[in-house]
Amino acid sequence: MTAVRVGVLLSGRGSNFSALVAGFERLRTPAQVVLVVSDEATAGGLERATEMGIDSRVVSPKDYPTRAAHEAAMIAVLKDAGVEWVCLAGFMRILGPDFVRAFPSRILNIHPSLLPSFPGLHAQRQAVAYGVLWSGCTVHLVDEGLDSGPIVGQRVVRVLEDDTEESLSSRILEEEHKLYSESLHRLLLVGWRIEGRRVLFDE
Ligand code: GAR
Repeated sequence: MTAVRVGVLLSGRGSNFSALVAGFERLRTPAQVVLVVSDEATAGGLERATEMGIDSRVVSPKDYPTRAAHEAAMIAVLKDAGVEWVCLAGFMRILGPDFVRAFPSRILNIHPSLLPSFPGLHAQRQAVAYGVLWSGCTVHLVDEGLDSGPIVGQRVVRVLEDDTEESLSSRILEEEHKLYSESLHRLLLVGWRIEGRRVLFDE
């Protein structure tokens, strides 16, 4: 099976990106990260890409007059690299309809909560403040909403009484690092379809 070409979009340190690459290797997933795109020139994930010998590009919204033009530029660099699946890994923007339609049902996001609880920014801070006893992380297909597409996988993390945003974030992150590659691995190797909000696997 030829490797599926994966593009990663990120805005920050890129630990989920590194974990995806390591996970594909560990699981022998027929997938290869061929390009990292960042909307932030200072994102640590860009250095990680260089260290791993993976091409990277900065596509900054500051260089484009509209959100649509910025997204068109991101689509162009991803398509030029032959990207088939897009993984959002700490990418802190909502993607518009043109982007979502450019990779239909082929965009994944990872979010540090059990969706639909606590979408948006600071999900771990929201979980601690709310007083939930369980949180976790979610991998989902991306639609045009905020952290709202069909769910592919979730992992649960206990919230401890003395948890802070930081301590909970680091335990959730450990689970994120396993869940992301496992989710794409499953999507690539098992048949699946979307029915309503549900992703149904043929296993
Ligand atoms: C991760 O916790 C990821 O789930 C979160 O940002 C962090 C990025 O860390 N994403 C979101 O909150 C998206 N709504 P990383 O750059 O080390 O992968």
